[in-house]
Amino acid sequence: MFAADQLTGSKSEQYAQLSQMARGLLAGERDRIANAANLSALVYHALPSLNWVGFYFFDGNELVVGPFQGKPACVRIALGRGVCGTAAVTRQTQRIADVDAFPGHIPCDGASRSELVVPLFARDGGDTLIGVFDLDSPETDRFDADDQRGLETIAQAWLEAST
Ligand code: SME
Repeated sequence: MFAADQLTGSKSEQYAQLSQMARGLLAGERDRIANAANLSALVYHALPSLNWVGFYFFDGNELVVGPFQGKPACVRIALGRGVCGTAAVTRQTQRIADVDAFPGHIPCDGASRSELVVPLFARDGGDTLIGVFDLDSPETDRFDADDQRGLETIAQAWLEAST
């Protein structure tokens, strides 16, 4: 049983607890869809002020929506397009305080005001793009540097378990 609503302490302590929960949840399972589904549910229910948490996977040509929590989303995103496609081509986490100020932002849920997208690359040290881990919030400027660090660690836990 994952008591995801019981994070306590400072923000970094809470992320340490969440990351431990994530590692426990993914331990012993290598199926990337199963792990993406469970991780999306864990994070969506553990953290406040999120309206979408999920994965897009690279199919060799573009990003295709994978397991997520939230409202139905756009299915395909070309590399370089939107916040997700930008994270994929720049290989950098995109932390967007105001999505309306991001040129080319792709609105899926009209309630989204800020967004964090972590690119996922294979751990072989090569260039293999796996996809992106995407979080949307209905609050402007929802994600700070601590959130970015914590969520990059959680994305890494998914990569270690599933790739
Ligand atoms: N806003 C994203 C699209 C995906 S949704 O947020 C689920 C983007 O601009 O890439």
